[in-house]
Amino acid sequence: MNEETGAQGPRRVTAPWLRDARRDGRRICMITAYDAPSARLADAAGVDAILVGDSIGRNALGYPDELPVTMDDMVRATAAVRRGAQRALVITDMPFGSYQAGEDEAVANAIRLVKEGGAHAVKLEGAGRTLSIVERIVGLGVPVVGHVGFTPQSTNAMGGAHVQGKTRETAQAILDAARALEAAGVFSIVLELIPAPLARTITNSITVPTIGIGSGPHCDGQVQIWHDVLGLGGGKVYRHVRRYADVGAIIREAVSSYVLDVQGGQFPTREHSVSMDLDELAMLDQEPDFDKQREDIEGVAR
Ligand code: KIV
Repeated sequence: MNEETGAQGPRRVTAPWLRDARRDGRRICMITAYDAPSARLADAAGVDAILVGDSIGRNALGYPDELPVTMDDMVRATAAVRRGAQRALVITDMPFGSYQAGEDEAVANAIRLVKEGGAHAVKLEGAGRTLSIVERIVGLGVPVVGHVGFTPQSTNAMGGAHVQGKTRETAQAILDAARALEAAGVFSIVLELIPAPLARTITNSITVPTIGIGSGPHCDGQVQIWHDVLGLGGGKVYRHVRRYADVGAIIREAVSSYVLDVQGGQFPTREHSVSMDLDELAMLDQEPDFDKQREDIEGVAR
């Protein structure tokens, strides 16, 4: 047990430690984070891995989806998360466009996420043309996580965030993709929005751990989005989400109390203010009736 965080396991989670989770009888818990304070809280709560997901686009940058997210966005967010996380493995999504245009560019971008962001591992979506890129990045010593099923960077091709793999052909394609990714060297695979029985079959067909989101209970671990779990993501609660707190409502209530206090003159008060020797102030060039107001000023600021 880690004395600082209370979490089970090593002081710093590594990719090999996660890869061996099933063999060692451990279930993996992963959550997204995009900034240092959230990473610090997630880490203290004992998650094994923090995903700096390209879902930062929807959840933190105000975009409608993941597609506009840039390498600069991911590098900066990763560096912030690394500053917040002491124990968890930090995995960063390679954003749309950072690995689709060519292998050399993909490799350079993966290296940048490690060198400038401090990522411990990177995640890429899909198989097919991505496989040779995965092999090259793994060959350079950078651990890679795969991602199959619904892959948000292909949202336009898939017609939105829908469950994938409900038919024999599509299920076979996802199973084949997972096997090919394992052969290419990934140390774990995210299964997003696929039927639970298919996730079970895939989990039983490969040796690296599967991390599910909206894919049922048979995966080796789960990943959830910070904003969904904490009620920070707006009104809609997706079927695959368990909302553990309504932090959004707490924030709204707190900030509206602040607004009312400022508007009503209840904040700041004497406890929030600093005083000074009013004789010093009296020597300034200032309003003529200063002496008359002296008592009032002393009353508020002392
Ligand atoms: O970007 C992200 O948050 C993800 C998860 C949905 C797995 O890729």
